[in-house]
Amino acid sequence: MNEAGMNESCSVAPVITIDGPGGSGKGTIAQMIASALGWNLLDSGALYRVTALAARNHGVDMANPDALGVLAQHLDVQFLALESGGIKVVLEGEDVSNEIRTEEIGLMASRVATLPAVRDGLFERQKAFKDYPGLVADGRDMGTVVFVEAELKIYLTASAQERAERRFKQLQAKGMDAKLPQLLEAIESRDWQDMNRAIAPLKPADDAVEIDSTAMSIDDVYNAIIAEAKKRKMIK
Ligand code: DC
Repeated sequence: MNEAGMNESCSVAPVITIDGPGGSGKGTIAQMIASALGWNLLDSGALYRVTALAARNHGVDMANPDALGVLAQHLDVQFLALESGGIKVVLEGEDVSNEIRTEEIGLMASRVATLPAVRDGLFERQKAFKDYPGLVADGRDMGTVVFVEAELKIYLTASAQERAERRFKQLQAKGMDAKLPQLLEAIESRDWQDMNRAIAPLKPADDAVEIDSTAMSIDDVYNAIIAEAKKRKMIK
């Protein structure tokens, strides 16, 4: 399926940003929309996760902002589009798609993401994803900092309890051991860190459409975003 129908009057590639807390479903939704429209996809969280993993692999001190900034700027990372619609993340020639998804790396990513040197180091790399026929970008500051010009900005939330339960079910389905109270605690602590940092904190852009997905299905969220894009004549 390809629902894309570029607005002819667009002189630059259109952008849909989807920001929100961890586990709100923005990654899944961004992937669905990008693949339905045939647009490019930026999973900006993966860049912070890869930075954290590279720091661990190379023994870079988590208390050394300058070294982490240099690391972020020179990351040897590739995002390869898969036929399934997903993305393979390759760091220094190694497939790290699964390794970067652990709670431990998520928390480390949230820590390195508080550093201006790291955010600056990743800024241009994120901007470079904006290309024809369009871009769907998900993260924490896509609509507030990186793509302020985006035609459609979504702020996707869900209660912390709901997000922890979704994660719990995902891990159980993969046969992995998980405890709901610990997952809830990790989610709340990452929320706090992402929302209270000095630079580019997680918050809705002034012109964002807010969607609370707590009681919505993935398809409901997808349809709501597509309807907003059509309303703005970004797609037909
Ligand atoms: O979306 P995610 O869970 O993969 O993101 C991991 C961490 O990266 C998140 O806790 C905060 C950071 N991040 C960020 O600061 N800015 C972004 N645009 C995306 C992620």
